[in-house]
Amino acid sequence: MTVILEARNLNKRFGGNEAVKEVSFTVNAGECVVLAGDNGAGKSTVIKMISGVYDPTGGEVAFQGKRLTGQTPNAIRAAGIETIYQDLALADNLDAGLNLYLGRESTKRILGIPFIARREMRETAKDVLKGLGIVIPDPSSPVRDLSGGQRQAIAIARAIHWKAKLVIMDEPTAALGVPEQREVMALIERLKSQGVGIILISHNLPDIFAAGDRIIVLARGVVAGERRPTETNDEEVVRMMMGAML
Ligand SMILES: Nc1ncnc2c1ncn2[C@@H]1O[C@H](COP(=O)(O)OP(=O)(O)OP(=O)(O)O)[C@@H](O)[C@H]1O
Ligand SMILES: [Mg+2]
Repeated sequence: MTVILEARNLNKRFGGNEAVKEVSFTVNAGECVVLAGDNGAGKSTVIKMISGVYDPTGGEVAFQGKRLTGQTPNAIRAAGIETIYQDLALADNLDAGLNLYLGRESTKRILGIPFIARREMRETAKDVLKGLGIVIPDPSSPVRDLSGGQRQAIAIARAIHWKAKLVIMDEPTAALGVPEQREVMALIERLKSQGVGIILISHNLPDIFAAGDRIIVLARGVVAGERRPTETNDEEVVRMMMGAML
């Protein structure tokens, strides 16, 4: 087992609110670690400290043996961590191709002048999506016109295309219909089989048990327990989420 990510004693205070306290865990290559917990437990705050959106008040994150804490979100993404946020960081007015390249637009030079290579980006996007079995009827339509599942798929395609080593997903299936939830779960399996580590935030017990190799439960900002799915059950996970086992 290769540890790719290590979070050590993460703390985050917002004013007087200690949102995250001494949270430590690791993620191995090809492993899906589920962060479970009730509303306000601190899940999104933990992943934002990993992706660079928040600086921890204390503690640090190491990725492939190197300290990440203090780096910018762009540097962390370039290092191989792709984060798919709860509210999905896609640009609604752009099409799938341009979204795949968001923040990393390719340029070509014509007579020495750089141009954004829109057509190339769209073509690549079509290939990447096709390779994943994702069909978007009109790849040039703005993503605001796509379904929730298609939007998730583009965000996941972006992680695959840029060869992320760790993909963080914050409630990827919450807003989706059942068939789309299944597609996202299948994409998670596919990422795992390619050796990508996953941190999945979910409230959904069936998803937690289906996708998780390890379940880390947060309650009121602390780790209330860590279990393998085979060692626990719904009832115990719910009790941990409620903080009954602290
Ligand atoms: N930017 C912020 N400023 C102030 N307080 C914040 C901020 N972000 C989160 N918090 C607080 O930190 C705590 C943890 O919030 P967080 O968003 O991490 O919870 P969560 O586990 O992701 O919940 P949910 O399941 O509802 O998404 C909450 O008390 C929240 O109000
Ligand atoms: Mg959240």
